[in-house]
Amino acid sequence: MATRSYSELVKRVEELVSIEHYVSLGVLKGGLLLAAAFREGALNLYALDPSTGSMKRLNRDPVTLTARHEYGSDRVVFARDVARGAEMHALYSVSLDSPGEEERLAPSMKPARVLGIVYSGGEVLFTASTREENGLYAVEGDSARLVARFKGVPLLTSYGRGLAAGVTMKPEWGGRFGLFVADAGSGEVKEHLPEGGSACCPVVAGDGTVIYAFIGPRRAELRRLDPSGMKDEKLRLEGRDLDSFEPTDITFIDVAPDGSIIVIARKAGRSRLFIDGRLVRAPEGSLYYAQLRGGRIYVTHSSLRKPPRILEIGGDGGVRVVAEGRLPGWLGEALREVSFVEVESFDGSRVPTYVLKSGEAGEPGPTVVLVHGGPFAEYGDDWNLLAASLASAGFHVVMPNYRGSVGYGEEWKLKIIGDPCGGELEDIVASARWARSSGLASRVYIAGYSYGGYMTMCALTRKPREFEGGVAGASVVDWVEMYELSDAAFKQFIEFLFGGKRDAELWRERSPISHVDSLEKPLCIVHPQNDSRTPLKPVLRFMEKALERGKAFEAHIAPDMGHVVNTVEDAMKIVVPAVVFLARLEKRVGGSAQSD
Ligand code: 4NP
Repeated sequence: MATRSYSELVKRVEELVSIEHYVSLGVLKGGLLLAAAFREGALNLYALDPSTGSMKRLNRDPVTLTARHEYGSDRVVFARDVARGAEMHALYSVSLDSPGEEERLAPSMKPARVLGIVYSGGEVLFTASTREENGLYAVEGDSARLVARFKGVPLLTSYGRGLAAGVTMKPEWGGRFGLFVADAGSGEVKEHLPEGGSACCPVVAGDGTVIYAFIGPRRAELRRLDPSGMKDEKLRLEGRDLDSFEPTDITFIDVAPDGSIIVIARKAGRSRLFIDGRLVRAPEGSLYYAQLRGGRIYVTHSSLRKPPRILEIGGDGGVRVVAEGRLPGWLGEALREVSFVEVESFDGSRVPTYVLKSGEAGEPGPTVVLVHGGPFAEYGDDWNLLAASLASAGFHVVMPNYRGSVGYGEEWKLKIIGDPCGGELEDIVASARWARSSGLASRVYIAGYSYGGYMTMCALTRKPREFEGGVAGASVVDWVEMYELSDAAFKQFIEFLFGGKRDAELWRERSPISHVDSLEKPLCIVHPQNDSRTPLKPVLRFMEKALERGKAFEAHIAPDMGHVVNTVEDAMKIVVPAVVFLARLEKRVGGSAQSD
């Protein structure tokens, strides 16, 4: 394949990052959809009329995080980073009647890391983390009242009948996620760690019970919890399709105003939608959120080949696109083929792995093992900017859901607890070996962001012969120093990941900065300057050590941004250096007309 010029390569990335995304988050007053759209260069909120497609922008300046809204809301509530990416958030609201006129909520409260917001019954509740503590707050007048303090990281998902519900992770829970139900008046908090598994997506139903997903070792199911006695039972639905699907994960639950229970469940990296347990047919890929409105369903869909878009599903099952971005003409061929394989790892485990074949690479061709963050996340059949960018630049992309990933049951997730840069790294190496042995890959590189950046650093320092080079974005290099620099939420998160153990020796051993000597292959570091989750400072020390030892590396500090990529400009700062570095290693970029 011919090399491209730098400007061609960059232009492709720019076209990709500029594709508009649309997500429907709720139904507002008058039946308008609350759409969060990556549009006008950033994340913005719109009132979208699904029958005409007309859209009215609600916020003035770009948004970082949107509240969950009850049906029929006449205001929208959201948070915005006010610290140039360092994730110190302030809260705002806008009335549907006066778009653009933002009102700052609780202005006397200092900005904090907001973890979850709900706007319901005219009240705004949120969970947030400061350096010292994690808490649940209620907006009252000019200030935010601390309802309850939490040990663990509380993610608020629902509020109703005076009860706030969410998911929380405590270091002593051995890697499992529990539920909390808090009385917003008295501040009493009850926690529930379901026997043998984790909890997800709790919603306070109209009768004051909490509907949630139980994520078991290999299966997920719906349960109902009675907050008075904290007893739970399996929730029986009219339709049997959800049970017979045997999901390994449930990612979304809501109760519509008519009492219907809306569920999005997953298996093998793809989603299905159920209303009262009955399957609703939707295109293959991933689904997020879903609303019922006037006998129709609104849901967001994406896949590895399609960016997020809003679909309407009619009573007759017909699917209509309500809002979607325009795709560059070359995209379909660049993202030629998606497949799912199970790669055998060192201990016989099978690693669920997505593969995106580039139409611009031969077979075998240059391949990137792209590692997701989290680690409690997954790369399924969802839109993924990095995967699309790499495939567009002529790389096949292999995305292993290493142990620790979610989506495949608790048994697989829990295998990472206490063992970062251990078994999961072996799974990633197994996927690289598979890429070569299956005939897909000529040379194999590694890339990832956040926990994926950590895995890249681990791979290049602990397994230096398995990859030809790598890109570590927003990576973790030193658990000890990072812990000291973290706020309450991320301190708890690190302890959670290590299974509650604060073992400085283990933390040092699992830190790439302890193994700089072993680096052999070219490394590209990309790091946001104001990142408060994976701070830059330890990475600067890593670079100093690499420099002293004469290692081949390059570094791109992305100015004026933090961990979260929320604008076209920020996406360019991260993706362009990554793609150019890899293309250069493959001699796929440059001024001369080389070919391979
Ligand atoms: P993520 O970022 O991969 O984007 O979720 C992370 C941030 C912090 C930690 C891990 C991942 N940590 O362990 O502190």
